Amino acid sequence: MVAPGNIGSYESRVRDFCWSIAEEELGIAGKNQVNIGYLCTDRNCRRGLGGKTAMYWENSNGQTKTYTFDQLRLATNTYAQLLKDLGVKPGDRVCLFMDRVPDLYIAFLGILKLGGIVQPLFSAFGEEALETRMADAETTAAITQMKHVRKLRRIREKLPTLKHIIVVDGNADTIKEGEVAFNLDNAKSVEHFDVYPSERETPSVLHYTSGTTGKPKGALHVHGSIVSQHLTSRWVLDLQPDDIYWCTADPGWVTGTSYGIIGAWSTGTTQFVFDGGFSSEVWYRLIDKYKVTVWYSAPTAIRMLMRDGDELVKKFKLTTLRHLVSVGEPLAAECVLWSQKVFGKAFHDSYWQTETGCILISNYPGMKIKPGSMGRPFPGITATVLDLKTHQPLSETGKVGLIAIKPGWPSMMRTYWNNSATYYGKFKNGWYICGDRASLDADGYFWFVGRDDDVINTGGHLVGPFEIESALIEHGAVAESAAVGTPDPVNMEVVKAFIVLKPGHVPSDDLELDIMNFIRKRLSPLAMPQHIEFVESLPKTRSGKILRRVLRAKEWNEPVGDLSTLEND
Ligand code: WT7
Repeated sequence: MVAPGNIGSYESRVRDFCWSIAEEELGIAGKNQVNIGYLCTDRNCRRGLGGKTAMYWENSNGQTKTYTFDQLRLATNTYAQLLKDLGVKPGDRVCLFMDRVPDLYIAFLGILKLGGIVQPLFSAFGEEALETRMADAETTAAITQMKHVRKLRRIREKLPTLKHIIVVDGNADTIKEGEVAFNLDNAKSVEHFDVYPSERETPSVLHYTSGTTGKPKGALHVHGSIVSQHLTSRWVLDLQPDDIYWCTADPGWVTGTSYGIIGAWSTGTTQFVFDGGFSSEVWYRLIDKYKVTVWYSAPTAIRMLMRDGDELVKKFKLTTLRHLVSVGEPLAAECVLWSQKVFGKAFHDSYWQTETGCILISNYPGMKIKPGSMGRPFPGITATVLDLKTHQPLSETGKVGLIAIKPGWPSMMRTYWNNSATYYGKFKNGWYICGDRASLDADGYFWFVGRDDDVINTGGHLVGPFEIESALIEHGAVAESAAVGTPDPVNMEVVKAFIVLKPGHVPSDDLELDIMNFIRKRLSPLAMPQHIEFVESLPKTRSGKILRRVLRAKEWNEPVGDLSTLEND
């Protein structure tokens, strides 16, 4: 019999659910004033955790650092004061463009203490990806490292609102005019900072995510989101006082902020952060070294671990692992069974989105897992499957429809930045439509089927076809293109681009490589097409819209489906 964990009995949690359970735990019941930066740092010190380790950090060179909650409190104050002294105001957007260095985690909370809106941007983004997102957000300040500042320098002139570039490892000799060199280790630590009196509805984090059409959209979250991030960290991740928790996600993506910063520290948990790439051997060594107990990772990583075999696992002491959770893509039954075999613990799937801010559907500690299923709605979340056409809840089990959630949970995005029309378009018949397809079984378990749009999920990262196609068209040889996902054993899918060349250009291996690199530099390695097929023309609707669905179906050997409905799109 498995211990039931913090959630206890699922049925009674669902029956007796109230978000005030989290509010009591966070000490904010009945209060409107809520600040994530404060709750993750000062509050932990006030309840006696000041000397507890908040973060063990290690990078790929083997350098290490450790921060207690009290050090985290001081360092976040120092960042908040720095920004304040520069003139950054509450409500200003401050972007983080860094690898997983301690400053990334600290500045995140410092910005929130000041009342600023954090805009996390993945450090592998290229200039165009950065410019699109920073122009849309009208970002005021950027915090970055020497190794990434070049990209910001090249686009700075095109971003009139960008007043400050802070380089966390810069010095007077390396920075340029108009930049600020800041070094946390040498800075005078700020004992007291007047935390901005943010309220539950005060904006906190602006995360950009991709859709099928248009530019990336900024999902705007609020300080009150901590209520759901806290409780899901307790009941899904099962964080407990003695845990050493490792969330492998980068804070450029929502898992890395909701659970790699907010949930980890709202619960006063010690977390381990690794600033380095994937390697099965290194990852096992780190679990062994830091005695990781709770591990939040992704199917892509699990598939790579599986590929590297069972023997490698045996070389390390991984018996501290107590609870394993996965997110970002479908978790195949095979992965669940493998982890049960080699770690003696099954990975528990969790499903959610940038827009939802917290886990919506999951498998819980101590409960029966049906391998291949995402599990059941989090208590307090009402989820269902709607008919694809009528948008009414399906009464029949096993039928495929759209995953839909009743609005009103604390960490739901409040809008898309500058794009409320698209935000409102996400609701049908009083339900928030996630944009994914699934079916429900008789026990109320959700089974993921696929996306309901053309967005490509590569290794748990969403990339929008439109952003790729818009960048492709800027390449001198490209007349037209369509980007779709094609199967890949490790990343589930990778980008494939179908390209019509401009007259006078002929397909060649060199051109293919040139186009791939063009996208890698402008957007990111994730968005780079791994495969390119030069074609004479692209399938289109009568009104000229590219039928990505037709191209995609061929890649996956699936029936193309009913095209008549698309003809007049
Ligand atoms: C999309 C959201 C939520 C944090 C990371 C991704 C897909 C997410 C699962 C899962 C199948 C999943 C969906 C979803 N997805 N979790 N457990 N099983 N698919 O956040 O970048 O906003 O992506 O990722 O398609 O809509 P995101």
